[in-house]
Amino acid sequence: HSARLTIDPRFRVGSIDRRVFGSFVEHLGRCVYDGIYEPTHPTADEEGFRTDVLDLVRELGVSTVRYPGGNFVSGFRWEDSVGPREERPRRLDLAWHSTETNEVGLHEFARWLERASSELMLAVNLGTRGTQEALDLLEYCNVTSGTALSDLRGEHGSKQAFGVRMWCLGNEMDGPWQLGHRSADDYGKLASQTAKAMRQLDPEVELVVCGSSSAAMPTFGEWERVVLEHTYEDVDYISCHAYYEERDGDLASFLASSVDMDRFIRTVAATADHVKALTRSEKTLAISFDEWNVWYLDHFRSVEQITGIDTWPVAPRLLENVYTVADAVVVGSLMMSLLRHADRVRAASLAQLVNVIAPIMTEPGGPVWRQTTYFPFALTSRLARGVALQVPVETTRHRTATYGEVDTVDALATHDAETGQGAVFLVNRSTTESCSVEVDVRSLGAVAVLEAHQLHDADPHARNTLEQPERVTTAAPRVVDLVDGVLTVELPPVSWTAVSLG
Ligand code: AHR
Repeated sequence: HSARLTIDPRFRVGSIDRRVFGSFVEHLGRCVYDGIYEPTHPTADEEGFRTDVLDLVRELGVSTVRYPGGNFVSGFRWEDSVGPREERPRRLDLAWHSTETNEVGLHEFARWLERASSELMLAVNLGTRGTQEALDLLEYCNVTSGTALSDLRGEHGSKQAFGVRMWCLGNEMDGPWQLGHRSADDYGKLASQTAKAMRQLDPEVELVVCGSSSAAMPTFGEWERVVLEHTYEDVDYISCHAYYEERDGDLASFLASSVDMDRFIRTVAATADHVKALTRSEKTLAISFDEWNVWYLDHFRSVEQITGIDTWPVAPRLLENVYTVADAVVVGSLMMSLLRHADRVRAASLAQLVNVIAPIMTEPGGPVWRQTTYFPFALTSRLARGVALQVPVETTRHRTATYGEVDTVDALATHDAETGQGAVFLVNRSTTESCSVEVDVRSLGAVAVLEAHQLHDADPHARNTLEQPERVTTAAPRVVDLVDGVLTVELPPVSWTAVSLG
């Protein structure tokens, strides 16, 4: 197999917002407790946060972290999570059938994020609560001082306002599993009212209204239209959520998951543009793809096994997917899909960050390690800079059961005018054949290969585990040559590759 493509900085899609490299920390399973936080761990800092985890989070290059949920937020009372720790209530978390101790709350998480050099993106509870509680939380977070709630924040240890810019207006309100789930009409009205009120308090906030929790929802499309007809002028983003998995051993379809993500983004953008026309609006709505990943949803069912009202555990092992090489190739290609729509996708969150469907795993009292999916995320976050470019690819195509004919090689390129550096990301979706790719980079000028990384393994289902934490890692591609402005790279089957040039 062979493929050919051209990188040209004039073919720009849009500037890359760093918020596209966001992630997500939910009070779910061992994401917070025994994940980022474990006071008895040998590497814990004075606040109880694991510094070995923090090191990997920094290396991952996470720009923004969505918090504290997820489904969790729809039953969350934010007041429980602030003030003296010994006075914080223990609560039942209905979403995950767990007990929430509130040992880690808003202040602790904000301090953790400072250490991680990431931005806080908060979700308000529009499940069991409403506009007033959202306003209270906004006052608590963003007013400098001199009001009841801003002064309370000062008494709780943060004289300085948190200054949170990004806010989600609830979570997955289209999902029947969501506490306070409602119709598009009811949610649209509540979201509009809450958004207007929040802007009245702080005009600087950037607001995300809930889109569908997946493109497979029966209300997909109609939900977006109705919700946006209520909220178009009040919000800045509509959310998309998507999870992919290898089903019934159909690796070929799974490797083409980004075909679905591309279509999902285009459909939501088209629906938003339809409402733009209906409302005669001047503004174009952005997309916040604030939950995306590979997720083997079977594990979801483990929540249902937690029964008995008096026995809901603290930080149980939930949704702890162990990712394969193929999963990582898909994660890399999903990031390419997000960047390919850089003009519309202005924020995104890999769900989630630690232990729960996460690139980073920990053992209590023990080590931290990188899952396979860690590598494409970290490398894309570091190398994809400046603007995303359109990359027409001449490639063979092959048939998949789920998506029909798809390109065998998928590609995305970026270019940073400030540094003159470019990067190209390549996926070989073939399960059997290698592919030699030629990339015409002449319009980048006289460049050399700065770095080249490839994720591939003879066993596409190889994983990193507690016993073998470094079984899978990236290596230099077997062939990577740059001669007369043409880059040649060899892509083995089921592989993800990144090359930076400058
Ligand atoms: O990320 C796990 C869960 O997936 C989130 O809590 C929810 O929003 C989604 O259904």
